[in-house]
Amino acid sequence: MIRTIPQIGDPVLRAANLEVSVEAVNSAEIQTLIDDMIETMRHANGAGIAANQVGVNLRVCIIGVEANERYPYKPALPLTVLVNPVVHQIGTETYLNNEGCLSVPIRGDLLRMMSIKVRSWDRTGRPFEQIYRGLSAGTVQHEVDHLDGKLILDRVTDPTSFSTWENFRAHEYDRFVDRIQPVIAATEPRTEPA
Ligand code: NI
Repeated sequence: MIRTIPQIGDPVLRAANLEVSVEAVNSAEIQTLIDDMIETMRHANGAGIAANQVGVNLRVCIIGVEANERYPYKPALPLTVLVNPVVHQIGTETYLNNEGCLSVPIRGDLLRMMSIKVRSWDRTGRPFEQIYRGLSAGTVQHEVDHLDGKLILDRVTDPTSFSTWENFRAHEYDRFVDRIQPVIAATEPRTEPA
């Protein structure tokens, strides 16, 4: 079922998100939540979604980029369900990304860690570890930020980079793709088992 995505200012996006228990992860309630998150993300052409973006304050998020109208420059990323994810930085390198969000009507520039390791469960509660680099790492960090009640606007250091989607496409898109190409090229493989 496609669920409504709360927008910035809705307290559900800032509330604490609880860990999913081992007992609960295979319940019909959690499995339906995950299915609905996937459906809602795909319907909105998102690259990821967090449970609080369908109104549920649990530490579950999903990432996945197919050929995506919203992000045609983004490398593909397999659909991955992360339950109780924890992000560890690898190295110290960062890059300047430009991100949008299904819960925020404007985009902006923000720094992301270049390489991370994620420790998590999959949707059945099995341990899952993966290394992510570049834009794929940025997507994971964006979704885990949601689980910490953080939105992109909290991380934007230069407010002059704020832009509507329409104005980003008209005025910033080409410059951003030029800026991000070296990051994409330098971060292969984008994912790797940890
Ligand atoms: Ni978001």
